[in-house]
Amino acid sequence: MSRTKEKNPASQDRLLEFDLSTELKHGIAVSNLAYAVAKEVGLPEDQCYQLAVAGVLHDIGKLKLRSYINGQENNPLVIEELKYVRMHSALGYEELKDQGYSDFILESILYHHENFDGTGYPSNKCGEEIPIGARILRVCDVFCALSSDRPYRRAFDRMTVVGLMIDEVKNFDMEIFLAFQRVVHKEEHDGIKEETGNRDEGYSSQGNGNTELCDQHHP
Ligand SMILES: [Fe+2]
Repeated sequence: MSRTKEKNPASQDRLLEFDLSTELKHGIAVSNLAYAVAKEVGLPEDQCYQLAVAGVLHDIGKLKLRSYINGQENNPLVIEELKYVRMHSALGYEELKDQGYSDFILESILYHHENFDGTGYPSNKCGEEIPIGARILRVCDVFCALSSDRPYRRAFDRMTVVGLMIDEVKNFDMEIFLAFQRVVHKEEHDGIKEETGNRDEGYSSQGNGNTELCDQHHP
């Protein structure tokens, strides 16, 4: 009996999964939300602006990740996938550190997966050891990711996402999380959120026009 070459679609697809359009939409959504939350927290305008830049760029290390993943496509171990994925924040930092971005932007990117309780990566920083920009990005990144469709699940609606985040609130700076909730509820109240129709967009990417922030802020 002839055997065709067996594939392991689940592992391959997950390892190779990278869609530039999706990543850009996510970056813009995180940028807009991070700017609004930073404002709500009371950061000065310049830092809000820099955080919007960091929001667009925060996952740029995933582009580098592709070269590490190349050749590992047949590795079925989820742990391997996690190991590589967990490199992306440091890879992004390395990629940008000599390109004239501020320390505020660079550290926000480097630490955007640190959890407030010390369980994140790459450095297991906890509490206020984590730069405030990274603490804001952490909240916004999770919200925008859960609010968007993924290959393996549909987007959750906004209030469900907030509920899921409350279950994991140990990961977040409470002051920032409360500011984030105020921003989300304010938008809900103001009717900026269109009803659930366009779920691919996740968080609105139409806010402050941050699509051009990279170029504007980059020396
Ligand atoms: Fe990330």
